[in-house]
Amino acid sequence: MRLTIDDVRSRFIKHFDGTTGSVYASPGRINLIGEHTDYNNGFVFPGAVTQGMIAEIKPNGTRNVNAYSIDLKDKVTFSLDDPKGPSATWARYIFGVCREMMELGVPVEGFNTAFAGDVPLGAGMSSSAALESTFAFALNDLWGENKIEKMELARVGQRTEHKYVGCNCGIMDQFASVFGKAGSLMRLDCRSGEYAYFPWNPKGYKLVLVNSQVKHALAGSPYNERRLSCERVAAVIAKHHAEVATLRDANYEMLEEVKNEVSEEDYKRARYVIGEVDRVLKVCDALEAGDYETVGQMMYETHYGLSKEYEVSCEELDFLNEVAKEEGVTGSRIMGGGFGGCTINLVADELYNNFVTVVKQKFAEKYGKEPIIIDVVIGDGSRKLC
Ligand code: GLA
Repeated sequence: MRLTIDDVRSRFIKHFDGTTGSVYASPGRINLIGEHTDYNNGFVFPGAVTQGMIAEIKPNGTRNVNAYSIDLKDKVTFSLDDPKGPSATWARYIFGVCREMMELGVPVEGFNTAFAGDVPLGAGMSSSAALESTFAFALNDLWGENKIEKMELARVGQRTEHKYVGCNCGIMDQFASVFGKAGSLMRLDCRSGEYAYFPWNPKGYKLVLVNSQVKHALAGSPYNERRLSCERVAAVIAKHHAEVATLRDANYEMLEEVKNEVSEEDYKRARYVIGEVDRVLKVCDALEAGDYETVGQMMYETHYGLSKEYEVSCEELDFLNEVAKEEGVTGSRIMGGGFGGCTINLVADELYNNFVTVVKQKFAEKYGKEPIIIDVVIGDGSRKLC
């Protein structure tokens, strides 16, 4: 069942003073290719989905925020002026956004809010970015006269992750959530901030997510450790090539030069990133030529790299990837940060039904639970609903 405004409004009325406020929404995202490239200043190729977060918000004339999570049935109150903030993680996302908007000079005041989402949690579809973008967009509308630029709203979400949640993420998820456009994927150059919309209408193919339902929290060490590996290698390369600020600026030859100066693990991780930056560009060219076989081949290469070099896969995701390969699926790979969640699959129309049946059956036989199939529909970014 898809989430509607009424699902949120009815709870807002019930949990607060019976009146209504303004309603805002922001989506989760998929990413066709370009994984773990954003914090290396490379390219990403995401699109917003039609699943997302919806929040009803009404100023309450105090300095307190009263927030109700409909999905968790949990209510938290925090003061906008207490730098410590709440302890519940879900509430820290909202608190962080408030504080970062205040840092930008937006005169945020206290409010009541109820919110819910239909992005599966831990699926690698960025439910947290959807939450951050919803509130960043809303506060800009309610108190900021919509003066803060969209890219800055995305950065508010990213800084919230860094400073209030402990995940040193890149900009992809918040960018996709704020800038999404129905029917289009977006290529973002994370170094310059330049982006372009690519209409996504692959004739004869579908994009489908297969959710393993394995959940690993991204916040904290494994994700942040990958980022540190990349920064270490870039710093060593920079000693020989001053023009290299991040791995985006490096190539395989430069990496080979420093092979003995970095750990084997860091070397493998950097190798993955350098390859991935290049694959995004190859995919763009292939899409322009309508060459979906190449797009798919790049997706398989990304999966290999994420699994064997970057080491962010898990047994279940590798299994889903293998089944896709066996069933003749054009492209398949882990999507998002990894350590669980979904694979994204580019499937020819005529193979779709069979793939879905077989992957469910084989996964259930091995892991005792069917994976969840999610058909990808590319939707709009942050917006006011009413
Ligand atoms: C998470 C992060 C993003 C990005 C992806 C991997 O979703 O939030 O910034 O690094 O992982 O591509």
